[in-house]
Formats: sequence, structure tokens, C-alpha cells
Amino acid sequence: MITKKSAKALLRVLAGEALAPPPIWMMRQAGRYLPEYRAVRERAGGFLDLCYSPALAAEVTLQPIRRFGFDAAILFSDILVVPDALGRRVEYREGEGPQLEPLRERGAIDALRRDQVTVRLAPVFEAAQRIAAALPAEVALIGFAGSPWTVATYMVEGRGGTEFVESRRMAYFDPERFGALIDVLTDATVEFLAGQVAAGAEVVQLFDTWAGVLSEEGFRRWSIAPTAAIVRALKARHPGLPVIGFPRGAGPRLIDYVRDTGVDAVGLDSGVPMGWAAAQLGESVALQGNLDNLVLTGGGALLEREVDRILDATRGRRLVFNLGHGILPPTPPEHVARVIARVRSAVG
Ligand code: CP3
Repeated sequence: MITKKSAKALLRVLAGEALAPPPIWMMRQAGRYLPEYRAVRERAGGFLDLCYSPALAAEVTLQPIRRFGFDAAILFSDILVVPDALGRRVEYREGEGPQLEPLRERGAIDALRRDQVTVRLAPVFEAAQRIAAALPAEVALIGFAGSPWTVATYMVEGRGGTEFVESRRMAYFDPERFGALIDVLTDATVEFLAGQVAAGAEVVQLFDTWAGVLSEEGFRRWSIAPTAAIVRALKARHPGLPVIGFPRGAGPRLIDYVRDTGVDAVGLDSGVPMGWAAAQLGESVALQGNLDNLVLTGGGALLEREVDRILDATRGRRLVFNLGHGILPPTPPEHVARVIARVRSAVG
């Protein structure tokens, strides 16, 4: 059999090669720190209108590729389009973050419109199709979804940035009810991601932004187990599809996460020592991360030092250069260009 070797640096690293310089992209590389994003966002009306307008979503996805020449584009969408597609009310209010109608009752979980997911999310798939057709040949397209646990926290709490008391309470004291929600989200996530792949996404990333608040047992049951199920189902439908998992805040539990989920790469937040990850996480997984997004806002010598530290700690390892969390709105775009130049000038 002749296998066609991909020229795309991200896909090569995910398939097993260590590259110097490593491929680079940044979480939230499309967003409010870019004036050209803010202009389109204003035209679109609401944030969900932007997510569901294939032409505009494709346009904002491509903006950072044109401006910076990243090695990958990440589909412009949001993790909360899944609850929206399942029939829950989701609103984005200026300066307040997302708000949802809190989901607590078993009846409401059973009433989620699992049959509507691929229909309601068709505009996102169309955006992926347009992006795939427009991307330069060397740039990979990343699709994404939130992990079931992280999406469940927004659905149960009704908003983000809380102590997650209601979600953790349901998970501890009524695991049967909470498990029913996680099961719906696991299936919906597989549909959402498989739809993106069918439309042209070549890699997918699962954002488990709130994995770190789970207990040891909770992490196994609500982060690792659903992630493993999603990876298995996706790879059954799309053999060879690379999956990146990002269990933010997992700390030493990254070892179990990597061993038990089957992800091809693991996203590391800025609290994870890169030297530790390189030594402890085994050669079977690529590392992604983990420049502090706050350091990126500041620039200067500290920024260059931090970039070098990540490169030094991962020499010879498979690395996808990224941040430890998404780009913050006050980030000067020049700092992003500076990081890319520094990473690309580092060889060997
Ligand atoms: O990375 C990218 O460029 C792709 C687009 C993307 C967005 N959200 C666009 C967005 C991705 C990958 C996400 C993921 C996402 N969304 C996560 C997981 C990653 C993370 O950051 O932890 C989470 C938890 C969400 C939920 C969400 N969406 C929140 C908490 C907010 C409000 C916070 C904020 O920055 O305002 C959003 C809105 C959102 N999603 C914006 C963008 C560009 C800002 C909204 C705007 O333009 O007004």
C-alpha cells in the first residue's frame, strides 16, 4: 500500500514525527484581540449568529491564518452550540459570558433533542467545508467540541466561572441522573465532531476546560471515560483521525488521562512543567502547549524566555507549540507574530 505522507506539519507531528521547528497554532486565535474579528463580529449581530453564519464563521477562522501564517486553523464556533442544538436556551451577553437556562431535572435531561444535533449544527459543518476549501495546502483544519463534563457544567450551573457546586453535587449524589446527561452529551459530541470531520476537519480537539475541579474518582468517571468513548467512536468512523485532548488543570492525572483515553496529543495548561510532561507522559503522545496567555499580553524579554523554556524542555519530543489557555482580548497582535517568529527560528 502506498501511503501519502502529509506535508502539513501538524499532521506529521500527530502521526509520530518530532519536528524542529514545531508546528504552531493558538487556542482562540480568532477572537476579540483582532480588529478584523471585531469588525465582522459587529456585522454579525449576536455571537451565535456569527457561529451559525457559514460565510462569516469561515471568514473569522481564516483571519489569523492570513495575518500570521499559523500551521493550523481552528474552526470558528463554540462549545455551547451543542446545548443550543439540544434545545436549551443559550445566550451570550456582552461582558458577562454565556448564560443558559439551568438544567437540573431528570425530565429535562430526557427531553433533550438528541435527534436535532446534526440538523441544528449543519451551518457549522458548512463553515468547515468552506474553510477546508479555502485553506493553503500546508495548513491543517482543526475541529473541536467541549468535553461532556465541561459542557455539562455550563448546562447545570447555567453559567461559567462558578464553583461548580450544582454540577459536582449532581455528580456526587445522583450519579445516575448526571450520567444520563453525560451520555447524551457523549453521543452529541461524537455526532458534532464526526460532522466536522466529514466536512473537512483533519484533527479534532476536545476542550475539557473544567476537568481540574473533579475529584480523583470523578475525573475517571466524568472526564476520562467519556473522552475514551468519544475517541473510540470517532476512530471507528474515521480511522486514523488524530484527536487532541485538553484536560485543563488535570496535573498529575494527565498520566492516567493519556494512558486511558487513546488521545494522540495532550494539551497542557501553563501550570504543567514541560520537563515533567516530557519525562512522564510517554512517547506515544504528542505534547501541546503551554505558553501562559498572560505572558503573551505582556511581551518583552519574559515572553522570549518563556518560549525558549518550552522549546528547551521538549527538545527531541513531539511538540505542537500553543498557549496554556486561549488568547486574551487585550493581547497585542504583534506579540503573537513575535512568538511565531521565535518558534520558527529555533531549529534542532
Ligand atoms: O480557538 C478559536 O479561535 C476557535 C473558537 C472558539 C471559541 N470558543 C470562540 C469564542 C473555541 C475553541 C471556543 C471554546 C470554548 N468556548 C471553551 C473551551 C476553551 C476555553 O477557553 O476554556 C469554553 C469554556 C467556551 C465557552 C465560552 N464561549 C465562554 C466562557 C465565552 C465567554 C468568554 C469570553 O471570552 O467572552 C464564550 C464566547 C466566545 N467563544 C468568544 C469567542 C471568540 C467571545 C465572544 C465574542 O466575540 O463576543
